[in-house]
Amino acid sequence: MSTQRTGTIAVFGATGQQGGAVVDALLDHKARVRALVRNPQSDRAQALASRGVELAAIRADDPASLAAALATVEGFYFMTPEANRLEEVEAEIRIGTALVDAAVEAGVPHVVFNSVFGADRESGVPHHDSKHAIEEHLRKSGLRATMVRATAFMENFTSVMAPSLERGEIVLRLPLPEDVPLKMISVRDIGLIAAALLLGTAEAPGGAVELVGDELTGPQIAAAFGTCAGLAARYESLPLSVLPNDLDKAMFRQFAKAEENPSDLAVVRSIEPATLDLAEWIRATGWTAPTNVAGS
Ligand SMILES: NC(=O)c1ccc[n+]([C@@H]2O[C@H](COP(=O)([O-])OP(=O)(O)OC[C@H]3O[C@@H](n4cnc5c(N)ncnc54)[C@H](OP(=O)(O)O)[C@@H]3O)[C@@H](O)[C@H]2O)c1
Repeated sequence: MSTQRTGTIAVFGATGQQGGAVVDALLDHKARVRALVRNPQSDRAQALASRGVELAAIRADDPASLAAALATVEGFYFMTPEANRLEEVEAEIRIGTALVDAAVEAGVPHVVFNSVFGADRESGVPHHDSKHAIEEHLRKSGLRATMVRATAFMENFTSVMAPSLERGEIVLRLPLPEDVPLKMISVRDIGLIAAALLLGTAEAPGGAVELVGDELTGPQIAAAFGTCAGLAARYESLPLSVLPNDLDKAMFRQFAKAEENPSDLAVVRSIEPATLDLAEWIRATGWTAPTNVAGS
């Protein structure tokens, strides 16, 4: 097998949200991209191929397929699939560990791992501690590694955290006390920042950066959507019991301890000056108020 480096950047999770944004940003820089995919025939994989992305078929439980897919690349971006149940946390660690081991085997010059904010230590949140364990494994691997630690995706406001329109008013409900700020980042900016790190146009101080584009309390988030819609807005703090699983309960319990995790938006903007705050993200995505769910 040739070991000559090709300038190619490998991406695991390229058919997903954050990995897809990394591919977008790399292609904008005319970089060569290899996507590690479990199903090269899927519509999303084929859409990447049609944009010039090389597809490498892998299985996360097949180390040889992973090492072969990482052969000769200059850089490697990976994330780990979401664990929604406690049983899935072990699988997340297994996948992350296997990807690190494959990068060692292939001698990848630089690895960027997107874990999660706070993953520099154990927090008691199972699907964050899994990422801490992978970070530790990566740190001990001897690879040159950069940890990027994403905060809540702003895109959640179009799905699980979407505000509603009720009797002509924007209403946001989250299981977070109203005086606690939520840290957030747009998926687009995860891609831009990771690409800058992978292409060597920026460095994270100390080899790690928390990805945060804004930090707002529930009432401030509701107001941002209300301003965009030209409507009144209000926030309602919900109890943790509304959450469907113990993992999310542990996570929002941790979110409420915001004072333990001060943000440094300046570091992020030094890497990517155009990082979006929430108001900019709302405008950039063309967000429009949802359809009324109650009242007129
Ligand atoms: N949502 C948030 O606010 C937030 C904030 C911080 C961190 N995170 C973390 O971000 C991660 C999720 O990122 P995302 O939203 O970008 O994920 P996503 O959109 O759900 O995409 C998951 C990606 O992983 C691939 N994948 C899943 N299982 C795989 C397997 N067994 N083998 C190979 N590939 C596999 C999928 O490929 P296929 O196309 O084949 O399915 C897809 O490319 C989670 O770890 C989550 O904890 C999320």
